[in-house]
Amino acid sequence: MSRVFNFSAGPAALPAEVLQQLRDEMFDWRGQGMSVMEMSHRGKAFVGIAEQAEADLRELLAIPARYKVLFLQGGATAQFAAIPLNLTRPDSVADYVNTGAWSKKAIAEAKRYCKVNVAADAGGKYASVPPQATWSLTPGAAYIHYTPNETIGGVEFPFVPDMGDVPLVADMSSTILSRPIEVSPFGVIYAGAQKNIGPAGLVVVIVREDLLGRARADVPTVFDWTAMAADGSMLNTPATYSWYVAGAVFQWIKRQGGLAAMERSNRAKAGTLYAAIDGSGYYRNPVAPECRSWMNVPFTLPSAELDKPFLEGAKAAGLVALAGHRSVGGMRASLYNAMPIAGVEALVEYMRDFQGRHG
Ligand SMILES: Cc1ncc(COP(=O)(O)O)c(C=O)c1O
Repeated sequence: MSRVFNFSAGPAALPAEVLQQLRDEMFDWRGQGMSVMEMSHRGKAFVGIAEQAEADLRELLAIPARYKVLFLQGGATAQFAAIPLNLTRPDSVADYVNTGAWSKKAIAEAKRYCKVNVAADAGGKYASVPPQATWSLTPGAAYIHYTPNETIGGVEFPFVPDMGDVPLVADMSSTILSRPIEVSPFGVIYAGAQKNIGPAGLVVVIVREDLLGRARADVPTVFDWTAMAADGSMLNTPATYSWYVAGAVFQWIKRQGGLAAMERSNRAKAGTLYAAIDGSGYYRNPVAPECRSWMNVPFTLPSAELDKPFLEGAKAAGLVALAGHRSVGGMRASLYNAMPIAGVEALVEYMRDFQGRHG
């Protein structure tokens, strides 16, 4: 059976090599006579898998020793609540930067637990990032939260905010592992797994140790970073299989040459697609050029009536999940690490062909 080029924003394509490894190890993981899915999370085999995954992630991102790495459940959305529950009191103020749909959701959830100051709002169509000099920050804020890459709008920060002593919290769900980053400016990095890491439901949290010990007394235990860190993310049964898949993806990234190699490939893929859009005089991407996402590329056709034939033709050509998010329409091509350049070239060729027939 052949595989399609899957442009889904998440759950997204996994590397074929990783899927083949999972298949080969499904019945009998390395002579244990069982699948990883069937192993005790306390047993030596799974503990080894979990430790290796953490070590590989630490190596890939060069995570300093003063950060804890947690493998939790509930997706990034659980962290929208866990962040204020771990870092604020009800009367604390947290600053948020709103650059699109996911920032908005994080803000709405935080408002249930603490005071929120929206320090900057890209507003309207969310097609750019307000420069840091224009933000109205709260002196002594508990933290500042932002979304480096907005998965729906395809808007990416061209800079890392410089927040001094205020902990910087970043939702990296759709950008983590797409290129090297420096971890040390961040207090907390979190990322739902279903784009560049592995299966949905798992969320990776990287938290600086000095931010532990601040959780409210009534935080649900499974969302308590301090308790989870103390128990190696195994305070309850973790998402064992997802953790193992994440580890297999980390190893795959290392075999490709690490995050520098991911950056080269992602830059080439995004460059190829944006050049095709801009050069077409037909397709359009609405985002300010300096804020264009490498991972999620939204684009429109000259009229919405063309969307259906475009998507049908794409599917017939083996190019799937190109429909834009239901809230914005149009098209969106997500180009996470597992999307090969051949997929982008096939998409660009299809776009030219479609334009030739419908232009
Ligand atoms: C940037 C961003 N944050 C948060 C989420 C929510 O993640 P989850 O559905 O895993 O809770 C998503 C999902 O696509 C996302 O793209």
